[in-house]
Amino acid sequence: MTSITLPRPDDWHLHVRDGAAMASVLAHTAAVFGRAILMPNLKPPIDTTAKALAYRERALATLPAGSTFQPLMVLYLTDATTPDEVRAAKASGLVHAIKLYPAGATTNSDHGVSQLDRLDPTLAAMAEVGLPLLVHGEVTDPSVDIFDREAAFLDTIAEPLLERHPTLRMVVEHITTADAVAFVKAARPGVAATITPQHLLLNRNALFEGGVRPHHYCLPVLKREVHRQALLQAATSGDPRFFLGTDSAPHAKHTKEAACGCAGCFTAPHAMSLYATAFEDAGALDKLPDFASRFGPAFYGLPVNADTLTLVREPWTVPDAYTFGEDVVVPLWAGKTLGWRVA
Ligand code: NCD
Ligand code: ZN
Ligand code: ZN
Repeated sequence: MTSITLPRPDDWHLHVRDGAAMASVLAHTAAVFGRAILMPNLKPPIDTTAKALAYRERALATLPAGSTFQPLMVLYLTDATTPDEVRAAKASGLVHAIKLYPAGATTNSDHGVSQLDRLDPTLAAMAEVGLPLLVHGEVTDPSVDIFDREAAFLDTIAEPLLERHPTLRMVVEHITTADAVAFVKAARPGVAATITPQHLLLNRNALFEGGVRPHHYCLPVLKREVHRQALLQAATSGDPRFFLGTDSAPHAKHTKEAACGCAGCFTAPHAMSLYATAFEDAGALDKLPDFASRFGPAFYGLPVNADTLTLVREPWTVPDAYTFGEDVVVPLWAGKTLGWRVA
């Protein structure tokens, strides 16, 4: 196969930050993807419908004239999010989900939820109006081993939550373990997961390949090879509960190459090349269109994009850095060659 054409894909998990930084990174996504879920973990967080709509306007203002890219907005769930805010979000028609960051779990999660069961009325309102809960699925208890935090979240928080709210829809974001694959497969209808390119391509050895590799550090952290294999199997299985979400999470170069480096891998420009590489290595390139272009819209109740994207088999070397506002950001795979590129 020398080329592959698929319905234009969407990115169901993306960080674009704000201001000049957003203008630099969103352009890469908008050149390839039709729509993207813009994650709300800004400082301060996007925790009201009014803030989400204003953020959407700022995102649209960065796009070139004629761009048809659509930013899909998400509210950041806090201890103070009310059922009325949920209803306002739904009524806007532009907010597609609400995001749970356990307080302290990841980048800009300080305003996240400290006690989830206190939010039952808010979660009940989400189930009622049909807004899915997107979760960063890791417990924050520092005594739990970092490699076990996802599995612990699913057992101790997600499972009881789904039982308390039997019609609440949920996406377990950026899954990293065989445990998460099994959890989603065994769950009742309405539970799905996104999978990133880095978790399909790398295992935790990549964090220490000849030395500490800050550009391979994201949360949830890379896991053992057995988990990577389970994710690849899920992504290429044709099961509609597993779909594309890059979790492209740009941080300025100096904030990652630091004594306490930030978590996040930047993949917006070449995400489709990375996914194509992973799917091809698994002998399942034919499964890429469903994963990248069809299963996400089906979960969110949106149409598949009408236009297409073509990837061609052509060696392409990933740049060492991209502009990021006043700074630069180092992409995943920097300086290395990939076998596929967007035509
Ligand atoms: C994300 C970020 O930088 O915003 N980082 C990451 O490592 N994935 C936050 C997140 O998705 O957890
Ligand atoms: Zn996260
Ligand atoms: Zn993320």
